[in-house]
Amino acid sequence: MTIAMEADALREAIADRLIAARARTGGLTDCVDEADLTRQHSPLMSPLVWDLAHVANQEELWLLRGVGGLEPMHPEIDPLYDAFEHPRSKRPSLPLLTPGEARSYAGNVRGRVLDLLDRVSFTGGPLVDQGFVFGMIAQHEQQHDETMLATHQLRRGSPVLAAPPPGSAPGDVLRLPAEVLVPGGPFTMGTSTEPWALDNERPAHVVDVPAFYLDTTPVTNAAYAEFIADGGYLQERWWTRSGWEHRRRAGLEAPLFWQQDGGQWLRRRFGVTEPVPPAEPVMHVCWHEADAYARWASRRLPTEAEWEKAARHDPASGRSLRYPWGDADPSPARANLGQRHLQPAPAGSYSDGAAPSGARQLIGDVWEWTASDFLPYPGFVAWPYKEYSQVFFGSEYKVLRGGAFSADPVACRGTFRNWDYPIRRQIFSGFRTARDGDLG
Ligand SMILES: [Fe+2]
Repeated sequence: MTIAMEADALREAIADRLIAARARTGGLTDCVDEADLTRQHSPLMSPLVWDLAHVANQEELWLLRGVGGLEPMHPEIDPLYDAFEHPRSKRPSLPLLTPGEARSYAGNVRGRVLDLLDRVSFTGGPLVDQGFVFGMIAQHEQQHDETMLATHQLRRGSPVLAAPPPGSAPGDVLRLPAEVLVPGGPFTMGTSTEPWALDNERPAHVVDVPAFYLDTTPVTNAAYAEFIADGGYLQERWWTRSGWEHRRRAGLEAPLFWQQDGGQWLRRRFGVTEPVPPAEPVMHVCWHEADAYARWASRRLPTEAEWEKAARHDPASGRSLRYPWGDADPSPARANLGQRHLQPAPAGSYSDGAAPSGARQLIGDVWEWTASDFLPYPGFVAWPYKEYSQVFFGSEYKVLRGGAFSADPVACRGTFRNWDYPIRRQIFSGFRTARDGDLG
């Protein structure tokens, strides 16, 4: 989404994003049967049919009722699909819409939304300014699609999803330096101009970040396997106190979905068991595992400000870019986003998407854990509702950046912030490491 589009171009862009999100939702829910849609595949996740109706319910609430001023279609179902009213583990026991009812509800809402879009004025206030609330709903559906993809990854049974693999690692990877230097000094973090940026990405503010080194690529499976082979999971000294306690209690010995077969590591990926590809970024690790690996490697996780500076700061102009490669929207040549593939690309891919710092794959492939807690930026204002971000601020959650192969471009920017508990690893999470710059 570029800034200041004409109304008709904006209508078209919004319709494209909404239709793309619904196509993906359809792909993730039409490939399994009714029983599969209503079953809970993990206590961490909702039944797929809950996500489907929840997406439609939010769309009805914000667009049809909020913007269009229409009467509720089925007010009695609102509480069922309020994410704050029922934790995921309890959702299967609710009197949810059946898959057929959920599909027809979603279709009805969408039909009315497209009618509304034809006649809406984008000058009616901040909610519709530059199509913000439509963009929020397109992002919301794509975020649930990513969550549904994580449910598919947890699901047992024969594979139902397919996509071509990303290309093999490009030839220049072996010549890439292991780390890049990001020079010290101020840069602009966050945004006040990106039209569909969410409240937690705002406002733009200057942060002084001392020089540091950052891994050129995310940490690979091969590097992570060395940590395991070196006893990384057996030695308390690499772990924080809470990380070690969690590791012991949860019995962590390797990334989620990995299993050892003789001398080889295998992984389960969307129902297929296969050898762990050494060059691919490691995935399905929790924050504690990422943090322990970094300490073992005599390094540390980057702070969120360091990550964003490496991804956006352009020393030539002094500006912060929308994306590592510049201001243009993501394209397949620049980043592995949007579930085009069902896995990350080998480390070092996407030279066209490199940041001015030289770091690669900051956008796409795997979400990257940072050292930072999820906190508001100076001048933060909750918008348009405090349950989007504000209720999550604090030391309970760690920030992830950059989006994964599973994130759609509409829900991924250089400023986009994701957050989760430091023990979570069903998400498509990896990391890269950093170290302080040389002194004087
Ligand atoms: Fe939601």
